[in-house]
Amino acid sequence: NGFLAGVLSRGQAGEVATEVQEPLLILFGSQSGNAESLAKKLAKEANGRGFQARACGMEALSPADLSKEKNVLVISSTWGEGEMPDNAVAFWEGMNLNGSSPKLNGVRYSVLALGDLNYGETFCLAGRMLDERLEVLGAARVHPRVDCDVDFDDAAKGWSEGVFKALSGVAEKGKQVNEVVVVESESESGEKYHKGNPFPAALVKNVKLNGEVSAKDTRHLAFSLEGSGLVYETGDALGVRVKNCPEVVERVIKGYGFEGDVLVSVPKLGEMRLFDALTEHFEVRGLMGKLPEKQVEVQEWVGSLRKLNPRLYSIASSQKANPDEVHLCVGVVKYDVDGVGHKGVASTYLAERCVEAGGFVHTAEHFRGPGGGGTPMIMVGPGTGIAPFRAFLQERQATGAKGKNWLFFGDQYRVSDYLYEDEIEAWKADGFLTRLDLAFSRDQVEKIYVQQRMLEKGEELWKWLEEGAHFYVCGDASRMAKDVDAALREVVAQHGGKTADAAAAYVAELKKGKRYARDVY
Ligand code: 2AM
Repeated sequence: NGFLAGVLSRGQAGEVATEVQEPLLILFGSQSGNAESLAKKLAKEANGRGFQARACGMEALSPADLSKEKNVLVISSTWGEGEMPDNAVAFWEGMNLNGSSPKLNGVRYSVLALGDLNYGETFCLAGRMLDERLEVLGAARVHPRVDCDVDFDDAAKGWSEGVFKALSGVAEKGKQVNEVVVVESESESGEKYHKGNPFPAALVKNVKLNGEVSAKDTRHLAFSLEGSGLVYETGDALGVRVKNCPEVVERVIKGYGFEGDVLVSVPKLGEMRLFDALTEHFEVRGLMGKLPEKQVEVQEWVGSLRKLNPRLYSIASSQKANPDEVHLCVGVVKYDVDGVGHKGVASTYLAERCVEAGGFVHTAEHFRGPGGGGTPMIMVGPGTGIAPFRAFLQERQATGAKGKNWLFFGDQYRVSDYLYEDEIEAWKADGFLTRLDLAFSRDQVEKIYVQQRMLEKGEELWKWLEEGAHFYVCGDASRMAKDVDAALREVVAQHGGKTADAAAAYVAELKKGKRYARDVY
């Protein structure tokens, strides 16, 4: 293959100009924004290496478009039970049309799959399926797929280096690869604080939003960003460094027969006490009651542990309304397994022990409020799904945006679980919130959910969609988001006078036009 693109160093720019630059398409399927930001960083780097690279979401292309490409890198996450990201669904269907799927001979490709090992068999499934299917359609894999766990930076870096080598073939040989794709310690936006160097944000408010009688504990948390220079937009998430419960850490250390004070070495951070290492840097969940079969050496043991990753929470505030703060709405997770009580690591830390936490902004381009201030906005956010919509509404109020706003909210009982009741009721009362539909599931014998409210108001909802409304969903991915999706199709079919297929196509178009976006977990 030996083409010459990207092989001349920057010092030879004059020569580069005479070369035809090698095209490179970096295609992303992204649900929370990780695949998208990786693709964009990679495109930037590839351009620096002399490629003519562009990053593109899968919603913007059909598989047939791929047959015109020469080099394609695919970065895709997986979500739910091994599902394609929202923006990849239509593309995936286009790759699986009986008899009429495009032929991709002549396309060179490689896949980077993002996932979470906790999901077992469905780990990285979307990326794995894309990789297989591309091969079946005739494309040539130039570098093996890499499957990444949640902490994907190093694996992604290794993959991209391999890919660049493979793509530039012979010509690249001998040239030192001196640029890296994902540098954790360097911020893309040039900001001082980022994932690799989080800002120590003081927790300035921690308020339980549920009433005494509630079965739930949902917290409104406010962190100070004063002096950080951090900038976030509505729809973004806050990455938070969390800590394990000290009692759990103590028990694990004892169980393994170690001492908390012994010094261990932690990659990239150096030596520290075992207790501190386990509290701040490694997963200890699942280690209790799993005693080692034989005596293990402490350093070796530490080396076998999984990294404790920062958690992402949808931001519940607009920075225009709160210049020095960022707000979260966090459900405290508590559950029983075989009669033994468990607590969610991150939510319990935030609700019960946090005084100051390392925070950074996680950009989520796919979940922005509508650009035009006049665009109608429909928001479905039961439970903690209210978070980004509180931010959208604050932002619209702060900027004086005139578009109509419609909120669907739900939770168990009105008396104890109406999160941000005062704010929402005030927005409704002064007309800023054009429509408000509430579904308190347990206030009556038969459960009522937000999707039922959508169906009841179907005619009006259809009207809004036809006026160009954007439709947003946030909250539970496994049941709620699926049911709301079905209700949306139902509304379109019924009130738009469409068949089920035509309604599905209409909804797919909404997605493609970025008018239907989801932030689900
Ligand atoms: P439930 O707990 O009474 O079943 C926020 O958690 C709200 O979402 C609660 O009222 C919860 O009701 C509700 N909920 C549970 N499953 C749902 C589903 N499949 N679709 C919509 N809402 C759901």
